[in-house]
Amino acid sequence: MAQPMADVTIRPLRIENQAERGLVLALFERSTSVGFPAWYTLEELGARQRESAAALLERQALSDTPPQTTTVEVVLIAETAAGEAIGFVWVRVAVDPFTQQPVGHVEDLATVPGHEGKGVGSALMAAAEDWARGRGLSALTLHVWPANTRARALYARHGFDEEKIRMRKVL
Ligand SMILES: CC(C)(COP(=O)(O)OP(=O)(O)OC[C@H]1O[C@@H](n2cnc3c(N)ncnc32)[C@H](O)[C@@H]1OP(=O)(O)O)[C@@H](O)C(=O)NCCC(=O)NCCS
Repeated sequence: MAQPMADVTIRPLRIENQAERGLVLALFERSTSVGFPAWYTLEELGARQRESAAALLERQALSDTPPQTTTVEVVLIAETAAGEAIGFVWVRVAVDPFTQQPVGHVEDLATVPGHEGKGVGSALMAAAEDWARGRGLSALTLHVWPANTRARALYARHGFDEEKIRMRKVL
């Protein structure tokens, strides 16, 4: 497994930092663009991601709770020793559709191109897991496009198993 870079820190998003908000918006679009199925367009996926990212950033801006203590969701940033933000993960509490128990759900994860393959994604996933464990959640779930083999390999190395496959026939 990739080793977390020694000089990378994982910490909550600084919502007041405009550049950081911009980075999250850009990485949101990146996260859905890898391996998406042919029946969607990048434009429609991008539009959905932009809406979702804007709503998330608005919630973060309105939150009066320090991000690490909120029980609902957190955006974590990977930052180099030089202060460069190079990746993010968004994890939240969700209700398991089958057990109805609260679980952690990784909504989004991405590393800035050029910084991949150095353990940043792995460090972000470990931090998301710590966040979920810290809230007493019994599981962590996520969705990933079938063709996103790089992300799937990362998740498998972090102990994720496949549990349900959604299928579609275009009519
Ligand atoms: C998936 C993603 C988050 C992984 O981030 P990362 O920082 O590269 O992750 P890591 O370096 O911790 O580990 C990735 C593994 O893939 C390898 N890898 C990652 N990027 C690579 C690249 N560009 N070329 C070759 N290998 C690569 C790493 O060597 C590592 O393998 P290892 O664990 O056997 O050493 C990143 O590739 C990404 O942002 N992808 C686009 C967005 C995306 O798909 N998000 C997931 C949505 S579900």
